[in-house]
Amino acid sequence: MGGYVALCIDVYDNVGGEAVTGVAPALRPMLPADVAMLVKIFCSSIEELAAEDYSPGQIEAWMSVAEDEQTFGARLQGMLTLVATIGGLPAGFVSLKGTEEIDMLYVAAGVARQGIATLLVGAVEKLAGVRGAKRLTADASDTARPFFEARGFVAERRNTVILGDEWLGNTTMTKTLVASSPSVHQ
Ligand SMILES: CC(C)(COP(=O)(O)OP(=O)(O)OC[C@H]1O[C@@H](n2cnc3c(N)ncnc32)[C@H](O)[C@@H]1OP(=O)(O)O)[C@@H](O)C(=O)NCCC(=O)NCCS
Repeated sequence: MGGYVALCIDVYDNVGGEAVTGVAPALRPMLPADVAMLVKIFCSSIEELAAEDYSPGQIEAWMSVAEDEQTFGARLQGMLTLVATIGGLPAGFVSLKGTEEIDMLYVAAGVARQGIATLLVGAVEKLAGVRGAKRLTADASDTARPFFEARGFVAERRNTVILGDEWLGNTTMTKTLVASSPSVHQ
């Protein structure tokens, strides 16, 4: 793997270690100062959590999305981005694009399966509902698909996207937020 990928690998080793075990996560909006840490979380989660579902070439291509930190930060700041923290340190993030689309959801590998994504997506579901969204969609990676299924998202279609020279599969998944109410007019 290239130097950029190697740089990403070890930066988040301490997150999820003994020091933060048992500390309840908190949520807050993303701040401009978070960008560098969110890049690290992005890389950590892809590198360590998605490696069973995607090839090394696909993983490297996916991680390269954050290679230009400024562009990556601008993308996150252009959306509603929430950060989950543990003991004050960012541990995961979610971005809502428009009112209905989850564009990014990444949890640091060291704190996976501790309910961080559940907290983040639960908050986004509530915010989207308040903003009038009737449904939420996500192009879920193969790694994230079981998570979205567990939250009641339903698979709609299979997609293949190209990143650099690599093709990656994902699945568009949808969750209805508000049940359509019966008409009062007969
Ligand atoms: C998908 C992802 C965000 C889930 O984050 P997480 O904080 O570990 O998820 P949670 O702890 O909230 O999981 C809640 C439930 O989802 C399901 N789930 C989550 N990850 C799962 C996995 N790898 N395999 C099977 N089920 C999973 C389980 O039902 C889990 O409940 P349980 O732990 O009590 O069994 C995380 O694995 C990740 O960042 N993956 C790599 C990046 C990625 O694919 N992002 C999505 C792009 S669309």
